Amino acid sequence: MTKPITAPARPEFSSGPCAKRPGWSVDALNDALTGRSHRSKPGKAKLKYAIDKTREVLGVPADYRIGIVPGSDTGAVEMALWSLLGARGVDMLAWESFGSGWVTDVAKQLKLEKVRLFDADYGNLPDLDAVDFDNDVVFTWNGTTSGVKVPNGDWIDADRKGLTICDATSAAFAMDLPFDKLDVVTYSWQKVLGGEAAHGVIILSPRAVERLESYTPAWPLPKIFRLTKGGKLIEGIFVGETINTPSMICVEDYIDALEWADGLGGLKGLIAKSEANLKVLEDWAEQTEWVDFLAADKATRSNTSVCLKVVDPWFRGLDAEAQAAVPKKLASILDAEGVAYDIGAYRDAPPGLRIWTGATVEAADLKALTAWLDWAYAEAKAAHS
Ligand SMILES: Cc1ncc(COP(=O)(O)O)c(C=O)c1O
Repeated sequence: MTKPITAPARPEFSSGPCAKRPGWSVDALNDALTGRSHRSKPGKAKLKYAIDKTREVLGVPADYRIGIVPGSDTGAVEMALWSLLGARGVDMLAWESFGSGWVTDVAKQLKLEKVRLFDADYGNLPDLDAVDFDNDVVFTWNGTTSGVKVPNGDWIDADRKGLTICDATSAAFAMDLPFDKLDVVTYSWQKVLGGEAAHGVIILSPRAVERLESYTPAWPLPKIFRLTKGGKLIEGIFVGETINTPSMICVEDYIDALEWADGLGGLKGLIAKSEANLKVLEDWAEQTEWVDFLAADKATRSNTSVCLKVVDPWFRGLDAEAQAAVPKKLASILDAEGVAYDIGAYRDAPPGLRIWTGATVEAADLKALTAWLDWAYAEAKAAHS
């Protein structure tokens, strides 16, 4: 097979931190409020603007709170788990590495007793119809390491008694999140928006706030997780008075990303772009014999973290060690060529490739990449044989 000539203009296909928006340069940070207090008038105004713009772009209902919190998405999810759980039984859904991590938190760290686990292997979803919404429910909207997302929110009870806690870090700004069905939504900036990593966002429904104000967990809460004081929500967090000191450079970059998103047509534009990106890889996979989606059901295919498996009969005949080696070799060939960075499967996932198709990635670059994938697979195969 001859080596392709045209490389993607931007080789960044990592699933986090993801590619910066097209045209980004450090000049985007020129207005960052550096060397000033984040609690100064302009500091608070920047943080409040970031929150207001988030509401506008994501379509967050007016009665939901939006807070910028420490510890990236993990910080936001754990703040929710530690602050809210324990009042009811919990249904935990896990179908890949990050969802499984939240199960560990709830079962082994919080040591909650009334926990039901619904899990599935990489490529599948657990039985969503078996979930009991009298319980609190913790799930990941898009499993970044398996490329499997929930297809929609239809399975979530609109009249639930429990709270739904949704890790949406690789879904927010790329998939429709039905806020009326979600009580806690979390994400971080370095995913779909290509922002800088550091901070998390937590979005709370009025019912989540009611739980916070009426229930005190049995365990102590570090200051970094505390959302209430004296049994009342700390409202300041949700207008930009962050718990601890944020990076105003990261905040500026987030604002830049939100404004870019706005220019693209907001959430609709972002979703359309990532779906068109997915289509490029779908069209290629359909006519390519050696590759297939890890997601078993088309409706659950992620339009951000596309996970692919090798299905070539030659590959299937290899032992597990060799199966792990071939996609790694493919990824390292393309890395060395400067054609694609960070496209190997996640360390806990089955051997394969993971290619980010969020809105900061261009369809033309994905199209150019597909020819290189075919070439690099042939090279990796030849190197192994
Ligand atoms: C679904 C999911 N949850 C949580 C995380 C952890 O995010 P962070 O590094 O922002 O804490 C990731 C990171 O890739 C993720 O994809």
